Amino acid sequence: MITPFEMAVSSVRVGVGDERCDMKIVVVGGSGILGSKLVATLSAYGHEVVAASRRSGVDAVTGEGLTEALRGAAVVVDVSNSPSFQDAAVMKFFKTSTHNLLTHGAAAGVGHHVALSVVGSGRFLKNAYFRAKLAQEKLIKESSIPYSIIQPTQFFEFVANIADAATHGNVVRVSPALIQPIAADDVASAVASIAGGPPLNGTVEVAGPESFHLDALIRRSLSARNDPREVITDPHALYFGAELSERTLVAGDDARLGAILFEEWLRRSIAETPQTNPQRVENAGAPIQPAAFKEHEFRIIEVPPGSALLVGDVVVFNVGGRFCATQNTCTHRQGPLSEGTLDGSTVTCPYHDAQFDVCTGAVLRGPAREPLETFRVLVDGEVGRTAPALQSHQQETRI
Ligand code: FES
Repeated sequence: MITPFEMAVSSVRVGVGDERCDMKIVVVGGSGILGSKLVATLSAYGHEVVAASRRSGVDAVTGEGLTEALRGAAVVVDVSNSPSFQDAAVMKFFKTSTHNLLTHGAAAGVGHHVALSVVGSGRFLKNAYFRAKLAQEKLIKESSIPYSIIQPTQFFEFVANIADAATHGNVVRVSPALIQPIAADDVASAVASIAGGPPLNGTVEVAGPESFHLDALIRRSLSARNDPREVITDPHALYFGAELSERTLVAGDDARLGAILFEEWLRRSIAETPQTNPQRVENAGAPIQPAAFKEHEFRIIEVPPGSALLVGDVVVFNVGGRFCATQNTCTHRQGPLSEGTLDGSTVTCPYHDAQFDVCTGAVLRGPAREPLETFRVLVDGEVGRTAPALQSHQQETRI
């Protein structure tokens, strides 16, 4: 039996290989947490890098801007992610965007299509995200463009989202199945190395240097941030809608391993983002005078776990002691989310029942299709304050 923090075994390390450094490389999803790291890494290697995203006028789903972005490109790297994880929506996103990228890529003479999938895409088909990733891989393999498919394990940056998704009230119920998470920095290094080299015309797994039991990892992650939620070990607990088997989330023996250890990343993450640490509501002090509040401020004792409070145009949610905040209006038809229902980190819109993850903004169920804007919540004693999200610290959900 593997102990919670026992090292996994593998023979290959993530690193820079025999790659060219003078190509035009288009990074689709280039403004996300992974995409922005990748753009920086590839640029540092000397490539001409185009960060393509809807923010820069390129939409792989509609095809808008693709012809211009891909003109003269040698490599396309697709690290885009679906804004919704609803069954039909996530499948439509990956199939449509991949079809468009391959079609426009072939027309532009792209010589290498690199795409990010997920470890276990072919063996966790009870999960819609994994099914969609498998469909994406199939399209790539059937295309005329030489390709490399990279299957990473879950990012360290995603561990908090796993906990939030499994939270009901003050309890986090998770499986003891194994997980082999990896730092997004290590994934970016691996993707950059592969993008700069010859096409693999195959699939490579990229994973963290250690395996953990998921329940132990969540417990460690929460305790390091003084998060008061209780973690319950349950072999039948659902992981984004489906039960895990022991090794669903673990890479094979040939996986390339990252170098960054979880504890090392956790220490750095906490030091760099103290403003996102969860706060203990029960530690709130005596009431303060309403006159002391400024715009965007609120009294944290007014938002007990499992509740929400409207602060200006932003709604603050208390997810088991951790504060998350989003825009108040539903992206479907402006339903007031502060009047919706909160279950764990999931809010249900009172108008047409769309669901969102309030910590990431991701759409979990339609009819909404666009994610919510998220905000930081800063806590100083008994006073909380909402602030715009920091781009570099935004979560990116990859199940
Ligand atoms: S307004 Fe929110 S689901 Fe329609």
